[in-house]
Amino acid sequence: MALLEMRDICKSFSGVYANDHMNLTVEKGEIHALLGENGAGKTTLVNILFGIYAPDSGSISWKGQPVSFSSPRDAIAAGIGMVQQHFSLVRRMTVLDNIILNLRENRFVLDRKTARARVLQLADKYGLKVDPDAMVCDLSVGEQQRVEILKALYRDVELLILDEPTGVLTPQETAQFFDVLRVLRQEGYGIIIITHRMSEIMAISDRVTILRDGKQVAVLQTNQTTPDELSRHMIGRELKECYDMDQPAGQQVLLELEGVSLPARRRGHALHDINLQLHRGEILGIAGVEGNGQKELAELIVGIQKATHGSIALEGVPMRGCSVRQRYEQGVVYISEDRLQDSLVVDMDITDNLMLREYCRPPYAKKGLLNRRAMIQAARMLMERFQVRASGVSGESTAVRLLSGGNQQKLIVAREVNEQAKVVVASQPTRGLDIGATEFVRERLVEQRNQGKGVILISADLEEIMALSDRVAVMFDGRVVGILSRKEATVEQIGLLMGGIAQEKKGCHDAQ
Ligand SMILES: Nc1ncnc2c1ncn2[C@@H]1O[C@H](COP(=O)(O)OP(=O)(O)OP(=O)(O)O)[C@@H](O)[C@H]1O
Ligand SMILES: [Mg+2]
Repeated sequence: MALLEMRDICKSFSGVYANDHMNLTVEKGEIHALLGENGAGKTTLVNILFGIYAPDSGSISWKGQPVSFSSPRDAIAAGIGMVQQHFSLVRRMTVLDNIILNLRENRFVLDRKTARARVLQLADKYGLKVDPDAMVCDLSVGEQQRVEILKALYRDVELLILDEPTGVLTPQETAQFFDVLRVLRQEGYGIIIITHRMSEIMAISDRVTILRDGKQVAVLQTNQTTPDELSRHMIGRELKECYDMDQPAGQQVLLELEGVSLPARRRGHALHDINLQLHRGEILGIAGVEGNGQKELAELIVGIQKATHGSIALEGVPMRGCSVRQRYEQGVVYISEDRLQDSLVVDMDITDNLMLREYCRPPYAKKGLLNRRAMIQAARMLMERFQVRASGVSGESTAVRLLSGGNQQKLIVAREVNEQAKVVVASQPTRGLDIGATEFVRERLVEQRNQGKGVILISADLEEIMALSDRVAVMFDGRVVGILSRKEATVEQIGLLMGGIAQEKKGCHDAQ
């Protein structure tokens, strides 16, 4: 008897099927991966299982019994836990309070001391290191995720749903996280994991269910398949993963940072004496373990933060004193890593989000009047060109919060990568994207490069950095500790610099 069996699940939104007779079976002690393009219906399926949506039809059997959950509370009570694509922790509460949140009513007075001991014991058993008294807002994403998992384990679940759990983790954190999953599997937990990364599916899953347009297209045994086969099932073709970068990068300096420094803020990281040049027609990769100053670097260039020392010049003209908007108008555009926080207004529709930067300019605004029709027309074109998929008849008026994670990301790329861009600061531009969309966004970046623009590519994904960069600058502890040419940039070399190891050994600073 399977632990979980979902049969013939259908769910439509505004007449479009997000799940179309979907099936999913998970065994005890199995790690089951869900794979599919952005918008294929993965999150919808697990939301149905977790009681967030009611299916239009179909059945769920849990440990042999038919069930229907009308809320996450029901699902948790039955033994199903979920760590959502976007975390749901209360940032201004401690780890312990988050874990025991909403349990109070079940046990008259919850004994904090006992709860604390139990959290520590679970943390120890599964290698989920966290400090129960830390505030959630002070934790790294990796730590927050451990809290989410502890929260589920604390509720005695037997099946854990993980929706893109590794998207925000560093490679090291991912490796640790997989160790935790292996222990859970051994203990007999069932695990559903959603990820776009083939290497992760191959490394951790026992079976894979592939979805396409809301339908189940294949269920494969992981050790009997290959990434190519998976990608064929998923998007109907194999990947090319090779970009047209034959023409050499330009010589002319487009953007120059000289002696740029920034003091550390409470949760930010300091930058020390950054010297960088970005040339026309160049992709400059910024590698490094996340949290070594990359975000601050991006924010200084686009004007969200101001440097205390040094200067940043665009085409030889210092940008000091220019606002974010002025810099945008001069051609500095930004694909931010934190799409929900910085880049999108999720309660507004697609058109408004696409027009956030442009709405006050002709042809969208004339004599103080907004031309809605022109905006909608432009939005439709961008959606088509950047393959932003939304359900519903008039897709462009869909609220952004209803889009799948990957489609939200494509929306930002569609808005920022435009004609007048000169410098594209792209931070984790393909995070959360399926492999087809990833390829598409990378091609757009290369296209910008080949048109003579400059791209600063900040990515935690070394493969991405190596595939696209003309040069790679490595950051460690707020400094640029090395700049490597495309030839020199091997995984080993970048890895050493990322760990701050090769730093003192030789004058890597001069490797420009
Ligand atoms: N509440 C909703 N209202 C309307 N449409 C929705 C809603 N939730 C999801 N959809 C639509 O259903 C489809 C499937 O979305 P879902 O979030 O399940 O995709 P996904 O496979 O998780 O994609 P991703 O990899 O991008 O996260 C999408 O077209 C999405 O826009
Ligand atoms: Mg999703």
